[in-house]
Parts: sequence; C-alpha cells; structure tokens
Amino acid sequence: MYNDNPTLKFGKEKTIEEDKQGDVFFKEQVANKEDKDLKKFYIESYGCQMNFSDSEIVASILAEANYASTRNMEEADLILINTCSIREKAEQTVRKRLRIFDKLKKKRPGTLVGVLGCMAERLKAKLLEQEKLVDLVLGPDAYRDLPKLIATAEDGTKGINVHLSREETYADINPVRLGSNGVSAFVTIMRGCDNMCSFCVVPFTRGRERSRDTFSVVAECTELYQRGFKEVTLLGQNVDSYKWENPESKETVDFADLLELTAQIAPDLRVRFSTSHPKDITDKVLHNMAKYENICKYIHLPVQSGNSEVLKRMNRTYDREWYMDKVRAIRRIIPDCAISSDIIAGFCGETEEQHQETLSMIEFAQYSMSYMFFYSERPGTLAARKYEDDIPLEIKKRRLQEVIRLQNQISFEINRKDQGRIFKVLVEKESKKSADDLCGRNSQNKMIIFPREDVQVGTYVYVKVQEFTQATLKGVLVSEEEYKNSL
Ligand code: 5AD
Ligand code: SF4
Repeated sequence: MYNDNPTLKFGKEKTIEEDKQGDVFFKEQVANKEDKDLKKFYIESYGCQMNFSDSEIVASILAEANYASTRNMEEADLILINTCSIREKAEQTVRKRLRIFDKLKKKRPGTLVGVLGCMAERLKAKLLEQEKLVDLVLGPDAYRDLPKLIATAEDGTKGINVHLSREETYADINPVRLGSNGVSAFVTIMRGCDNMCSFCVVPFTRGRERSRDTFSVVAECTELYQRGFKEVTLLGQNVDSYKWENPESKETVDFADLLELTAQIAPDLRVRFSTSHPKDITDKVLHNMAKYENICKYIHLPVQSGNSEVLKRMNRTYDREWYMDKVRAIRRIIPDCAISSDIIAGFCGETEEQHQETLSMIEFAQYSMSYMFFYSERPGTLAARKYEDDIPLEIKKRRLQEVIRLQNQISFEINRKDQGRIFKVLVEKESKKSADDLCGRNSQNKMIIFPREDVQVGTYVYVKVQEFTQATLKGVLVSEEEYKNSL
C-alpha cells in the first residue's frame, strides 16, 4: 500500500460517454458549470493509499470551488502535490518534483503551487522558506480551507494551514474518484494514529486517531455499488481500532461490525481493508471474514521485525510469539487467507541474530508479499530521540537484500502452489503486457491474467491457473460450475 515512486493520479478530462463510471462523479459535480468558467488543477500523490484517498477529497473540495482537474500540468492554474514523509527518500522525490514545477511556474507566471499532506505537516512554515515557489501549505486535516487559501494566494499572500484536528473525518465529502477504473474504490474509515511506533512520523503528521461516522461509510460504499463499483477497500492507519458511538442509541460499532455492515450491502461487492495492527486485530474480525464470501481473504499485517527485543524498541507492543499466535489464528479461522507484511531492516541496534529472526519470521508467516525497507531515521520520532541510528548503510542494504531475496522465493513458491487451482477474479483492466489479455485480482489479492475473449471489466470470472511468476498468475477461463466443483 505504499509508493515512493512518482505516481501520477489525475482526473482525466473524459466525457460521461467515454467513461461510464469513475470520472463521472467529477463531471456530475461540475455539470452545471461551463468548462470555460472553470480553473484547472493538477494533482500528484505520493505515499500511502491514504494520501491517494485524500487527494480525492481535495478534488471534491476543488470541484465545489469551480476547479476542473487536468492531467496536463502545463495548463494548470493550480499545481498540488500530496506528499509523504515516511522515509527521507519520499521527501527527496517531492523536492525533485518541486524543481520541475518551478520551471513551469517561470513559463506561466500566476500558476499556484501547493504542498499538501505529511511533508506539509512536518515542515510547516519551513517549507515556505525552503521552497520559494510554494504558495500554499496544507496539512492532512486542513483541506476544507483550500479555497480560502487559494483566494489569499491569488492576492499574493502565501497561505498555510497545518492545524491537526481531533474531529475532522471529511465524512460529508463525496470524493471525486480520480483516475478510477470504475471497479474498485478506497473509502477512508478513520484518520490519524495513536500508536507511537518509535520509527514512525505518522502520529506527528496525521495527528490523533478518530473514526468516521458508520452511516457515512456505509452510505458511501452503497453509493459506489449503485454506480457500478464492485470493490471497496476500507482504509485507515490502523483499521482495527475503528470505534464509533451512535449518538442516539449509544451503541458502539467496532471494526468487525463495520466490516459486516459493508459486506451486507451486496454479495457481489467485494470488501477489502488496510492496514491491520497485529496487536488490535480481533478474532471477531477473523470470524466475520470467514463468514462472508465477499470479504476478501487477505490481511496486510505488518510485522516490522521478527525479534522481540527490536519490536520492543520499535514500541510495537507485541512480541514475536504474539505475532506468531496471530498468524496461527488467521490460518485456523480462515485457512485460505493470504497475509502480507511491512518489514524494516537495520533498525537501531539490530544485531545479526535479530536480523536472522526477521528472516525466520518471513519463513514462518509465509507472506504472499511484503513491502520492505531499510530503516531511515525521521526527525522528531521516538527512535530519533532515544536510539542511535547505528547500523551502517551498507549493512542495512545487505540485510534488506536478504529480506527481499527470501520474500521473493516465498512468493514464488506460494504461486507455484496455486498452479491448477481455480479462482474467482474481479476483472479490473487490460493486462499491461498484451491487449489480448485482461487481469484482475482473486480474493487473496493476487493479480491473475487471462485471455480477454468477450469478458467485460467489472464482472467476475473464474480462472484456472496454468502459469506463474513471483508476482502474477496466468490462466484460462473456466465455468462457475467447474469453480464450485473445485472447492
Ligand atoms: N524507516 C523505514 N521504514 C519505515 N516505515 C515507517 N517508518 C519508517 C522508517 N522511519 C515503514 C513501515 C511501515 C511502512 C508504511 O513504512 O514498515 O509499516
Ligand atoms: Fe507517508 Fe505515512 Fe503520511 Fe501515508 S501517513 S503519506 S505513509 S507519512
């Protein structure tokens, strides 16, 4: 769920005729306005899925303020970059992009440049000093203020709002689905994080944890389904600590309840979620996953390290045994569930033996895939204040390579076991490699490629796997009956 690479997200300028779903939201929201009256904004997003989801909220706020999206930054009146601070590399990427926007701004004076998200929150007014071209700085809880700050910036005063809120969930804002395939959408259910992992900048950039009104989550998912979407991913920094109290009935809704409510919207609406914290995921969640066919059998359960002492220094509040017990519970309650992970190599004070325990954890948990990083010290975090970043870069890199090599082997072996199996696949898009093929995911979140034939995007098909690589499966279409017989 994480991306350091420059990934562009945009609302394409399509017509309703060209694109029956996705971008239609946007067109509808501005349908009563002539295109010539609209100013244009261009937005790029970096980092976690949450940031991509936030950009869709920003697009909705801008639509209200008479802005249309463009994928061409050269014609934009407003350029926004939604940033990530999680590792130093992510921030460097953003600074490089700002240099490019700077050149553009020189060619087109009057263009406004705004920095949104975690880097805006972390650096605050410093960003305006360091990056002269930046006109606007808005933290993750300040997006409602964007139209006001744009107006001030148009008058030549740079605008900043990095106030972190205890309440803001943007519950009432219907996100514009930027660059959507019209099949799957992200729905934010909670914001912020109270966990205080010692390596992590998120509690400082996204503030305190708060859960979104259950009714608004279910309403958003229902509306997506009515518009033809077939998959929703419930998003939060720590979805398992979702908790919302109905102000009238005083009943509380936990994450397992919310999952169930979402699954009940329609049997052919798939439900996914991310991210789970090993200390918070409950058996109730696991039982609900087992109970509903449309809750996907996939859990992103970041371990970070396989060694209890390192986990303690990381302030993860679980140890190796606890994590292994969680994996056992998942295997027992949902035998066909895929598990993925985030892993940090070379955290402060990590010994060679402790690193070996991370490798043995990867082996034990049999992750279908992992996001793997070497430790990057972030200013202001608990680890930066308490521990020395004492593992030399070459050792961090070597350990990371060992982690990656092992994970790749395991992914390959897991995919080998899928050979000959039949999966239900939600068709997402054309395969990157060939226009004759389509692709989509199975419940376990694995991408499967199959011949296009007369299959439509957004439908379910059954695919018998014949070939595999470490990252994907490839197969042929079979009947639903064959699938049912194979279960
Ligand atoms: N250095 C390296 N990786 C980090 N992550 C978070 N903070 C850091 C850091 N300082 C990783 C964690 C987290 C994922 C989103 O990014 O593995 O789960
Ligand atoms: Fe990056 Fe974390 Fe902010 Fe997401 S929440 S954008 S991963 S720093």
